[in-house]
Amino acid sequence: MVVGPEAPLAAGLADKLTDLGVSVFGPSKRAAQLEASKAFTKRILVENNIPTAKAESFTDYHKALEYACKNGPRLVLKADGLAAGKGVLICETAEACEEGLKQIMVERAFGRAGDRVLIEEMLVGEEVSFIALTDGKTVLPLASSQDHKRVFDNDEGKNTGGMGAHSPAPALSPPAYDAIVERVMKPVVAAMEREGAPYRGVLYAGLMMAPDGTPNVLEFNVRFGDPEAQPLLARMKSDLVPLLVAAAEGSLEGHAIAWDERPAVCVVMASGGYPDAYKKDVPIHGLDQDFGPDVCVFHAGTSKRGDQVVTSGGRVLGVTGLGATLADAIDKTYQAVGKIHFADAHYRRDISRKAAAFEAGAAAANT
Ligand code: AMP
Ligand code: GLY
Repeated sequence: MVVGPEAPLAAGLADKLTDLGVSVFGPSKRAAQLEASKAFTKRILVENNIPTAKAESFTDYHKALEYACKNGPRLVLKADGLAAGKGVLICETAEACEEGLKQIMVERAFGRAGDRVLIEEMLVGEEVSFIALTDGKTVLPLASSQDHKRVFDNDEGKNTGGMGAHSPAPALSPPAYDAIVERVMKPVVAAMEREGAPYRGVLYAGLMMAPDGTPNVLEFNVRFGDPEAQPLLARMKSDLVPLLVAAAEGSLEGHAIAWDERPAVCVVMASGGYPDAYKKDVPIHGLDQDFGPDVCVFHAGTSKRGDQVVTSGGRVLGVTGLGATLADAIDKTYQAVGKIHFADAHYRRDISRKAAAFEAGAAAANT
């Protein structure tokens, strides 16, 4: 059985199923702390020399404020617990830090997730996503991928769960890919085993690649990335199910994954207002046409009212296309997006364009 989202994993569903004798793909409650507690994760990272931002954690608002005043102003505030991807505040000024700490610790904008807050140094670099399957010992990395977290074009506006993604990430060189496997993924899986909480399932690392190539861990998720999974799965030629079974049963060693060489792009079509409040039950038009063999429309926040597909979440559809180049994949994907309509839909117009320019630049440099 596959347990997908973080909330049931953090609540111990995989443990319960294991106790019932069910073979489960998905980490135990203790292992799921890698997403459910940022303070736990920071400890594991620091104790095992895995690169990450310097941070301190606080339960007292005044102590947190004092630390922020001394170490700011450019800081990142993180509510410790699960906050549906919204518990991180990037603060450029002392006023923003104070306001943010107040929001998390006093006003409790993220509820109990804000019982403890982590204050981190602000890192710079290229952000990439890295996803691997593991059975607790063997790490089987997937292809590289990259998300677009901000809601508007040019990385402006609020952070979201992700507005679009591509795979591979041209910005991630083969040595940088290997550095992530050797310096982050393998050490963290080994550390969890030593911790007595072996990690089985899919492990997602959000990383900031420093200019000197250091893969700094921003966060872990205990599940596939959304929308990174869409371009990854579009490119995956191997059957996923035997890999999940092997990870669940502890026999991942020796497995390999075959990939479509072509890049893939996913553009998220979101409800008007997302990541803030949005309407539901909005009819979606244009889904029942032939988008061609290289395009796939993943449903994320939809449901059915009679025969009509309607919106039921913030991020509604992940429109995903494969192309000979990233530029080609972008064109195919946006052509499909242009054929789908629902009232107040919004999506970014610049998904993967920076990466395509990077790819084109690298190709030109090689000729
Ligand atoms: P997280 O949920 O920890 O991944 O944080 C959400 C987003 O905040 C990340 O995708 C980054 O864009 C940004 N972020 C988190 N931590 C840092 C940091 N220490 N420095 C700079 N940006 C960060
Ligand atoms: N795209 C980031 C996430 O799935 O959390």
